[in-house]
Amino acid sequence: MPGGDLLVRGGTLVVPEGTFEADVLIEDGTIVMIGRGLSPAGHEVLDARGMLVLPGVVDEHVHMREPGLEYKDDFTHGTMAAAAGGVTTVIEMPNTLPPVDDADKLRRKADLLSGRAYVDFALLGVLHDENLDELEGMLGAGAVGFKAFLGPTTGNIPPPGDGSIYEALEKSSRLGFTVAFHGENWDLVRMFTERVRSEGKVDPLAHLRSRPPVCEEEAAQRIALYARRTGGRALIVHVAAAEAINVVRRARSDGVEVYAETCPHYLLLSADDYERYGALMKVNPPVRERDHQRELWRAVNDGTIQTLGSDHAPHSREEKSGDIMSAAAGVPAVQTFLPLMLDAALKGKMPITKIPELMARNPARLFGLYPKKGSLSVGSDGDLAIVDPKAEWTVKAEDLYAKHPMTPFDGLRVRGKVVYTILRGVVVAESGRVAISEPRGEWVIGRT
Ligand code: NCD
Ligand code: ZN
Ligand code: ZN
Repeated sequence: MPGGDLLVRGGTLVVPEGTFEADVLIEDGTIVMIGRGLSPAGHEVLDARGMLVLPGVVDEHVHMREPGLEYKDDFTHGTMAAAAGGVTTVIEMPNTLPPVDDADKLRRKADLLSGRAYVDFALLGVLHDENLDELEGMLGAGAVGFKAFLGPTTGNIPPPGDGSIYEALEKSSRLGFTVAFHGENWDLVRMFTERVRSEGKVDPLAHLRSRPPVCEEEAAQRIALYARRTGGRALIVHVAAAEAINVVRRARSDGVEVYAETCPHYLLLSADDYERYGALMKVNPPVRERDHQRELWRAVNDGTIQTLGSDHAPHSREEKSGDIMSAAAGVPAVQTFLPLMLDAALKGKMPITKIPELMARNPARLFGLYPKKGSLSVGSDGDLAIVDPKAEWTVKAEDLYAKHPMTPFDGLRVRGKVVYTILRGVVVAESGRVAISEPRGEWVIGRT
């Protein structure tokens, strides 16, 4: 798909290093010039005065549910939601049906999704005990990294044993890819879950009790140890527990290549909210008490948390109703991802520059997409999120593009509105609505 030409004039650019006023000239989908007072003739001009110009968000953690789980959601709805929310690249998780565990399945998934994406997308392969020999093949076929589910979650993909994790990280050290981990200990989760079930009491905090922090702490210690000994690169996704953060902080200070991701729901919700939202806010690992939330914010601000992901994980309305122990875990989150973090930044919870750092540059780097993606610089793709920092609006579930639009953030008043989402020089969404009639997203392949 040919890229667009566009001059974005007069905005305030927001990059990890700071903010400054400049115009951005995009030609044929690529940023060709950044500077003051650009006025090349014949380009469509977008007036960005008074607005913030951010790199398009690279959401490293989405579950778009295709193939196999289309009753929950599909790629069309998911990537429309992404575009509406200022996300220009999504990295899709492999817990679809069948799970993506060899090169052939990866190619078939890419074929199925190509031509239907409203934003660009990249694919991860899964790691389990039977497919270590497939990793090189999946990289060759275009995987940008791998995911290992150490704890039980949607799809119930069996966790790789210690030997497989160690060997995958050895390969990571040799070949330069990132292994993303769902960091919970399977056996501990099972034991605690059985204990909670045997109590026979399903109150709103039951799910939280079934996955206490030690489940995350043990997994984080194991991952950090193997990353230390192998020199491999590990990303622990959706960290919710302060104990796991402490493990990552210590390992990182020793130079171990272990990274931590957290998600808006862990930063903005706490155990106090279960009474009100119940299964609607059920995710794995669970949203925890306020002490954990405080530690997560501290870790965002001191650099221990290196990335944010939405963990967009839609389910059907039926699956999300009923008691909290039997409901499905996961919330649709890609569309509210940037708005919620913008609101938090504009209200002083973190510097605004953390958005391009944690939601664009770092994810793009970890998955070999940088600087094509995740960067506002000459030569990068012209992917932008243009934001009005003064606008206030209300998040509404009914405005979500998800097939089953539900969110615990329904009714939340937020500051900062994504006014334009620009994908390779073309406005793909305006004021929260998709603005193109045909999908123009492409499959992107990383360079490890
Ligand atoms: C995710 C899903 O539904 O795919 N659910 C969740 O609660 N986070 C799976 C996952 O990321 O563990
Ligand atoms: Zn997970
Ligand atoms: Zn996930």
